[in-house]
Amino acid sequence: MTFSVIILAAGQGLRMRSSLPKVLHPIGGIPMVAHVIQAVRDLKPQKIVIVYGHKGEQLKEALAQQSDITFAEQKTQQGTGHAVLQALPFVASEKVLILCGDAPLVKPESLQAFIQTVEAKNAQLGFVTANAYPPTGFGRIVRDKNGRMLRIVEEKEATSEEKKITEINTGIFWVATQKLNEWLPRLTADNAQKEYYLTDIVSLALQENADIATMLLSSSTEALGINDKQQLATMERIFQASRAEELMQQGVTLLDPARLDVRGSVNVGIDISIDVNVILQGNVTLEDGVKIGPNVVIKNSILQKGSEILANSVIDGATIGPHTVVGPFARVRPDTVTGEDVKIGNFVETKNAKIGNGTKINHLSYIGDAIIGQKVNIGAGTITCNYDGKQKHQTVIEDNVFIGSDTQLIAPVTIGRGTTIGAGTTVVKDVPANHLIHNQIQHRSVAKEK
Ligand code: UD1
Ligand code: MG
Repeated sequence: MTFSVIILAAGQGLRMRSSLPKVLHPIGGIPMVAHVIQAVRDLKPQKIVIVYGHKGEQLKEALAQQSDITFAEQKTQQGTGHAVLQALPFVASEKVLILCGDAPLVKPESLQAFIQTVEAKNAQLGFVTANAYPPTGFGRIVRDKNGRMLRIVEEKEATSEEKKITEINTGIFWVATQKLNEWLPRLTADNAQKEYYLTDIVSLALQENADIATMLLSSSTEALGINDKQQLATMERIFQASRAEELMQQGVTLLDPARLDVRGSVNVGIDISIDVNVILQGNVTLEDGVKIGPNVVIKNSILQKGSEILANSVIDGATIGPHTVVGPFARVRPDTVTGEDVKIGNFVETKNAKIGNGTKINHLSYIGDAIIGQKVNIGAGTITCNYDGKQKHQTVIEDNVFIGSDTQLIAPVTIGRGTTIGAGTTVVKDVPANHLIHNQIQHRSVAKEK
């Protein structure tokens, strides 16, 4: 059996009150529609078709890396049934799985179970339902006394009795393509919203006594759609709670699971402890024994064994070596790579810097475009002056150098191993190994280029 996926994403999302198309609003740092795509990819469909409309260029741009996706345009948003109709010409498979791009937490396991349920019953139409409390805003599943399906009624058309029904339509359908081709052109926009409702195919199927199968999700949370900012925030919290749960199951100690946000993927070792208000972004690896203090942001970085990030630090694009301690209040920028037992202290900023084993940069320094050897001591207020207004230049500090406080190193410059620079020195040219330079400004004058 072949099947394709149709993801509905053409709606403007008026209720979001935003210039960003609804399905691009992020959950866990990733556009909600990308979550849906990720979930269906696990099922290996023949094709993924996304129905776009409102600000389609923005949607295509956001998904540009997923080159195998087919985009079907819905020029005017005339409802979910009309949206599916726009995608059908791109579908050649026997079955179609339809999902809404605004319900990001759907799990591939649930989709798999759903498809199996419908196929086992040989039904030509199936959809996923859930009990929502409150069910406000969703299409309700109307059944007779014996539980037999009658129709799906949208909130806007529902009677006050129907509004009390908690079983809702999640918007996930599994349909025989041939049947969709028959049913969709027969939909009418004879309703409160003057839209072609996909949900009306249920009545059409019942009229011809076609078999319908439904699967009730045990928990509604994974299938809930997002229509406004309140639901966006609620779903973000649900998503984050499950990320925190995953980490705890892997043995990570979270001082407060409600105060960790994961916006990407995290690889963890054992004996890791994370304090409150931490954000992990992009691809983060935390090796054994890593400790993260409160109010820390870590993005696309590797924290090696036993390293520790103290309060209020921001680490981005870095490799933090074993047993290295960073912070409090440190800013470690991309391409910083430290060795073992390094100390990067308060109000230190590093960028594109290789820092050797046992080196200490304890306070108030800027280290950029630098290669620093082992057991170097960098005093407070040391600045690598890497930028001359036109180009960036490198600073090289060899092993066992001692740099006194308030030193400016005018790059390009190399400080030879074992040398001591006295406090307050402005170093403008290379210093050989094992020298002592103190309290002086090394003058060098050259004609300034025009
Ligand atoms: C829809 C369902 C409702 C269900 C709910 C689940 C219908 C008529 N209603 O309602 O039964 O409980 O989803 O979340 O199907 N879209 C288009 N083109 C359009 C209109 C919508 O592509 O012309 C897309 C939207 O971008 C969105 C999805 O379809 O991703 C659902 O549309 P939305 O307006 O959010 O429908 P709901 O009112 O939530
Ligand atoms: Mg919706």
